[in-house]
Amino acid sequence: MKLNQNYDKLQENYLFATIDKKIAAHQAAHPGASLIRMGIGDVTLPLCAAVVDAMKQAVEEMARAQTFRGYGPYAGYAFLREAVGACYGERGVPVSPDEVYINDGCKSDMAGILDIFGTDNTVLIPDPVYPVYVDTNIMAGRKVLFMDAVAENKFLPLPDPAVHADIIYLCSPNNPTGAVYSKEQLAGWVAYAREHDAVILFDAAYESFVRDPALPRSIFEIPGARECAIEFCSFSKTAGFTGTRCGYTVIPQALRRGGKALGPLWLRRQSTKYNGVPYIVQRGAQAVFSPQGRAQIRQSIDFYMANAAMMAQTLKACGIWFTGGENSPYIWLRCPGGLSSWEYFDLLLEQAGVVGTAGAGFGKNGEGFLRLTAFGGRESTAEGMERITALLHRFPD
Ligand code: MLT
Repeated sequence: MKLNQNYDKLQENYLFATIDKKIAAHQAAHPGASLIRMGIGDVTLPLCAAVVDAMKQAVEEMARAQTFRGYGPYAGYAFLREAVGACYGERGVPVSPDEVYINDGCKSDMAGILDIFGTDNTVLIPDPVYPVYVDTNIMAGRKVLFMDAVAENKFLPLPDPAVHADIIYLCSPNNPTGAVYSKEQLAGWVAYAREHDAVILFDAAYESFVRDPALPRSIFEIPGARECAIEFCSFSKTAGFTGTRCGYTVIPQALRRGGKALGPLWLRRQSTKYNGVPYIVQRGAQAVFSPQGRAQIRQSIDFYMANAAMMAQTLKACGIWFTGGENSPYIWLRCPGGLSSWEYFDLLLEQAGVVGTAGAGFGKNGEGFLRLTAFGGRESTAEGMERITALLHRFPD
């Protein structure tokens, strides 16, 4: 019997599990010390009233024999697939409900989708990046090429025609840097993918944080993307579903490779390995698209973006170089005093009781950076920034 030896090539822990361990050690050493969490991008505002009401009603339905539901459709309930399709349509992006597959958050589907691709494909992944893309490909034994996302290219790498890839990961607004691709830049990626017969896996988990109307929120805003891209989106950050779990994957009917349509292949995989998101949760997600739901989640997003603006203001005043925070809930800052990512992470935790995420945890180009999230409460975010500022006086540069 052999274990999957590709796991030997992984780092010992998933990035956020390492951070959890460090927090637990700190709390054990300093019981009762106050901690400001600006590390993992986990929301803090409760589910909005429209979502809660819809879920309560769904619970009532589940309590009566006449309206009880057992297993749901593998691709998700039609009411939610239609609501997602209609929402794209309003933004001028035609997506049919048949092209929408309900998921329990981007992470699962971005990992699961790899099942439909051969393991001998070459994968192109930006560095730094959300570690799930890299780890899942390493687990499957795929060859991974990295493209540098650095200050010089504003953390938005563009295609290199000399490099061939079959699967390309793009995340915009980006986790961790907060950078957002323009339509022209995405058009460059679409052209590359079509030329190389590649498929773009587009992570749009943070699309609802885009404020600038000129910036794209979906890869399908780009002509030709329907023949070369899959989009993954989630209600986690948009509507506070990190603990509730629901999102959607869009696979256009026009997306075909090797003579086969990818949507039916995905459904074949899903119906074998997955039994879907609970009915109650899907009803809650549907309510996100109601007029009340939209207004309520907009308030939450505005609240987080006001945190981001406050954080940006503080960093500017301190003279710390950073990016993000304008069309994204993440701020990506250069560690002061020439500290490495993990040195600064440890220092913030030990001396200030503030948790960030070490940039190096997202890849080699993340070294020397730290990511902060704007998903905290107003007071704790302000307190966190005060503590960061106070600690800075130790770093004269
Ligand atoms: C993050 O902090 O990068 C995300 O919250 C992790 C996730 O979405 O799984």
